[in-house]
Amino acid sequence: MKPTTTTEISTYDDNEIVNHSGNAHFSDILAANMNRRGVLRGSVATSAGVLLGSVGLTACGGDGSGPAKPPVSNGPKELKLNFEPVAHTNADLVTVPKDYQVSILHALGDPLHYGDTSWSDTGTESAESYQRRIGDGHDGMYYFGLSDDGKFDANRSDRGLLCVNHEYVVAPYGLHPAGSTRVDGKRPAEEVRKEIFAHGASVSEIQRKAGSNEMEMVRGSKYNRRVHSATPMEMAGPAAGNAKLVTKLSVDGKEAFGMNNNCACGYTPWGTYLTCEENYLNVIGRAVDDDTQRSASEIVALNRYGLPQGRENPYGWDTPEGEEFKRWNSAVSAAAARDDYRNIFNSFGWVVEIDPFRPDSKPVKRSALGRFNHEGAWPAPAKAGEPIVIYSGDDARNEYVFKFVSDAKWDPKDVNGGAAAGAKYLDKGTLYAAKFNADGTGEWLELTHGKNGIDASNALYPFADQADVIMHCRLAADFMGATKMDRPEWGGVNPLNNEVYMTMTNNSKRDGVKIPLDAANPRIGNTNGHIVRWREEGSQAGTKFQWDIYLFGARVDGKQSENLSNLSATNDFSSPDGLYFDQRTDGGAGLLWIQTDDGSYTDVTNCMMLAAIPGQVGDGKRVTTSDGQETIMGAHATGANVRRFLVGPFDCEITGVVVTPDGKTLFFNVQHPGEDKGDFATNTFTSHWPGNQPGIISHHQGHKRPRSATVVVTRKDGGPIAL
Ligand code: FEO
Ligand code: CA
Ligand code: CA
Repeated sequence: MKPTTTTEISTYDDNEIVNHSGNAHFSDILAANMNRRGVLRGSVATSAGVLLGSVGLTACGGDGSGPAKPPVSNGPKELKLNFEPVAHTNADLVTVPKDYQVSILHALGDPLHYGDTSWSDTGTESAESYQRRIGDGHDGMYYFGLSDDGKFDANRSDRGLLCVNHEYVVAPYGLHPAGSTRVDGKRPAEEVRKEIFAHGASVSEIQRKAGSNEMEMVRGSKYNRRVHSATPMEMAGPAAGNAKLVTKLSVDGKEAFGMNNNCACGYTPWGTYLTCEENYLNVIGRAVDDDTQRSASEIVALNRYGLPQGRENPYGWDTPEGEEFKRWNSAVSAAAARDDYRNIFNSFGWVVEIDPFRPDSKPVKRSALGRFNHEGAWPAPAKAGEPIVIYSGDDARNEYVFKFVSDAKWDPKDVNGGAAAGAKYLDKGTLYAAKFNADGTGEWLELTHGKNGIDASNALYPFADQADVIMHCRLAADFMGATKMDRPEWGGVNPLNNEVYMTMTNNSKRDGVKIPLDAANPRIGNTNGHIVRWREEGSQAGTKFQWDIYLFGARVDGKQSENLSNLSATNDFSSPDGLYFDQRTDGGAGLLWIQTDDGSYTDVTNCMMLAAIPGQVGDGKRVTTSDGQETIMGAHATGANVRRFLVGPFDCEITGVVVTPDGKTLFFNVQHPGEDKGDFATNTFTSHWPGNQPGIISHHQGHKRPRSATVVVTRKDGGPIAL
């Protein structure tokens, strides 16, 4: 065997632009909207007034004719940030406010069960063992309280199941002995198998340590489980059984094999975890001349979803010899779809439902929620007798925001209903894409086959049926004129007033010419990102909304984007990504957590997490950005309402956050510390976290290789976090 060489895996650039649609941009359709404006305004004011009570007019419309503000309730206690903000730092550590402490719950490679060795810091753990080890690239996450009889208990804080996404394998690829390698251009099979098992998600039972709010993993628990890129899954919803999902592994199109690049997450009121496939282009290739084997509509669809012919599989998962690796190339190689993997690409990009309480249950891909670079799937609070509403973002430059509304109305008796409840609420419903108008109104554009020209006669793409619409909902949204956004990442619904927040992390390709500015994406380059929010009209399932921009990211030194939200050194941030509304039941619900995945402010500070007490849509004013775009901005940030809670180690992203129901234990994830090349010969990396973090338990201490990990934060005096 020839000597191997360490090579860098060329990861998929999640900033690739594949939306070349000519759908009308906002500036092109402004005139049409303005014509309808008077009518729309009237209906908005009426419905909002009826629903929310008339408590004055917002600044949304800028002319005093906007809708009524919703009543603001801070719940049983007034939210007030109660910690000293953490300063900017480039320390290779997690830095939390004084009076707080951290521990590591689990890190890449930790064994979930007995019988596998602990992390060796040498990358010699077998590929096979990664089916039972914590995966790489910790990302989205949710905590489900676990009752003594093994059921979901939304109020339990001392024992639970923690579901964590393992988005991808991370440079410097310390899960291998010497990083990622190739021999004659081919990846070694053992490395690829290890990577396949290191992707996906983990479920682990966790419990409080005696006399402490800190929590630890229960090794060997029957609930401990890995779901990865080779786990058999069911396809459900409109796409199940569709010819475009037929492969050699699933001749009836009703199964899928593995989930990939699970980024952010969601949860259901019945107690299941939603995990979302984002940059699955990391692991799929297509042959150079494949277009000659494809229909015109297939070529349109493949290109719109970022897989032109000749695109190499960035991770090289299709390079080892053997049938087991052929499925990572979506080329036509046989006479019929049932004899090759031409459709494997269509089996990724979905929301996957996992029932953590039934460790033997098969994960289900819920196709009705659409197929795209699914960042996450965030539910509005469920209300008895009303539909389940779930928001999603398509994280790529100039892509869309989506909303799913179930046909079935929520029945609280379905709590603990597992996959049956999932089928009831998530397999039938309506998918919409968002259009943000310049006057502060917005519309949900319905993506339903047979309506508004979304059918087989469509000139952009001939939609055969509803399966085709949701499988190619980017194209349906193009046709309907959805607003191209600055990379939608996490969303969340404020439990105090049901307003929806979503981060737009950045968009260096928003050049103001090819990609024009619009009111919801009003900065050229948008280096530091912003957070959009909206309030639905009438009900959460409504098709119209009012929006503004809650916060604009900026550096306090003013070196990049202008500081429109008046951020200060204690709360300035860049590239918002993770976002979560605290659901705690101690009166602290509605506290907002904001996390960053940034490369623009890292000369001054590592990525971070902030705590915020947001106001409401319309609490600010109209402004014109220095790029000349008018927009609607929320109230300024102050030291009282936005504050930096922690800073992560070097070269990391902070992502994934959840708090126990009693508000006393917070979990967050550090992803890709030291995301760079390392020197395995000398064990030198740009980060040595978490092995260098003081005070953590022994089996995580002293190691040199950087590892993604879940961190537990508690207050030393046992009090509630941040409040
Ligand atoms: Fe995996 Fe869009 O972050
Ligand atoms: Ca993200
Ligand atoms: Ca990101």
